[in-house]
Amino acid sequence: MKSNGSLEIKAVAVCPGRKNSAHLVRVPKPELAPGDRNKVLVKVLSVGVDGTDKEILAAEYGASPSGDPFLITGHESFGVVEKAGPDVVGLRPGDYVVATVRRPGSSLYDAIGTYDMSTDDTYYERGINLRHGFLTEYYVEDPEYVVKVPSGLKEVAVLLEPASVVEKGIAQAFEIQRRLRVWRPRKAAVLGAGTIGLLATMALRARGLEVHTFSKTEQPYLNAALVEEIGATYHSTNQLSLRDAAAELGPFDMIFEATGFSPLVFDAMEALGKNGVLILSSVTGGSRTIEVPADRINLGFVLGNKVMVGTVNANREYFEMGVNDFSKCELTWPGWLKKLLTHRVVGLENFNELLALLTDGDGVIKPYCEVAQHV
Ligand code: BGC
Ligand code: ZN
Repeated sequence: MKSNGSLEIKAVAVCPGRKNSAHLVRVPKPELAPGDRNKVLVKVLSVGVDGTDKEILAAEYGASPSGDPFLITGHESFGVVEKAGPDVVGLRPGDYVVATVRRPGSSLYDAIGTYDMSTDDTYYERGINLRHGFLTEYYVEDPEYVVKVPSGLKEVAVLLEPASVVEKGIAQAFEIQRRLRVWRPRKAAVLGAGTIGLLATMALRARGLEVHTFSKTEQPYLNAALVEEIGATYHSTNQLSLRDAAAELGPFDMIFEATGFSPLVFDAMEALGKNGVLILSSVTGGSRTIEVPADRINLGFVLGNKVMVGTVNANREYFEMGVNDFSKCELTWPGWLKKLLTHRVVGLENFNELLALLTDGDGVIKPYCEVAQHV
């Protein structure tokens, strides 16, 4: 990749380790160099923000690329291919795309394309850790990390990165449960009704499961209405504890944890049915400690042959699964995905408004920046 000295583009940058350091920078426009035969230049159309961005802003997470004073933030991208090098296969100018987030390190898992399973201590994630992200106007990328999106999904494709995280968790759970030879999951619980909880609810409903989604807030609640629109049931944990729910509604064959509140994991371990699988997806950067009934939880896990699995990030395989589920979702529940995109901020220069939405809980599901319009 080379930069075109005369042209500059805007980007939203942060100084990791310094609180509330978001600012607009101008950087050289990336371009395909003559040697970049197998690369694409992508014009960014929209970028979503989430709890990880919030943690980076709070200086609890994230790192700049080595030698750079700032990190261009944003990891939930959607764009359109503007140029493709002569050796690129399967992507053409005009194609809609989303980019994966992590880039390979040096472990065996990285070497086979499953960089989301890296065992390296250092990981490279665009917009998060050691690699610049997508809250900018253009990026250049290897087609391996760019996933084509059908134009019918262009209004909702900015949700594909968070969806990929959900898809990975569910796919891995099914993979693990092959141990049971005849596993037919019927009931699932989803803990959390934020973007990840809602997308997990959708992905599990799309697989035909009875889904119960839990979070604290009592109805009327937009997220609860969205859960019920796709045939799942919403429960406020103020009114029904997970323990009571397991007794009344269970056994849960699968539980997907996405609340960001780690103490709930131990309740979930107890609420999980025999032979069940518990998927943990909350990245909890804090240092909370609690007391738990260790013998009882352990006994239930051992006697019940239960499994718990942690999951982070996603490689392109899971983005592709997300594309399939989004297509299915648009056919089955038309317009539902779009309702998750509650807050649009137009233009990178309005980044302060965008980032403020991360702390402004009421009615906010997914805030995103419309960087450019595609006509
Ligand atoms: C991103 C993942 C990433 C994780 C940990 C999440 O917000 O969606 O792609 O691996 O943060 O950095
Ligand atoms: Zn994220």
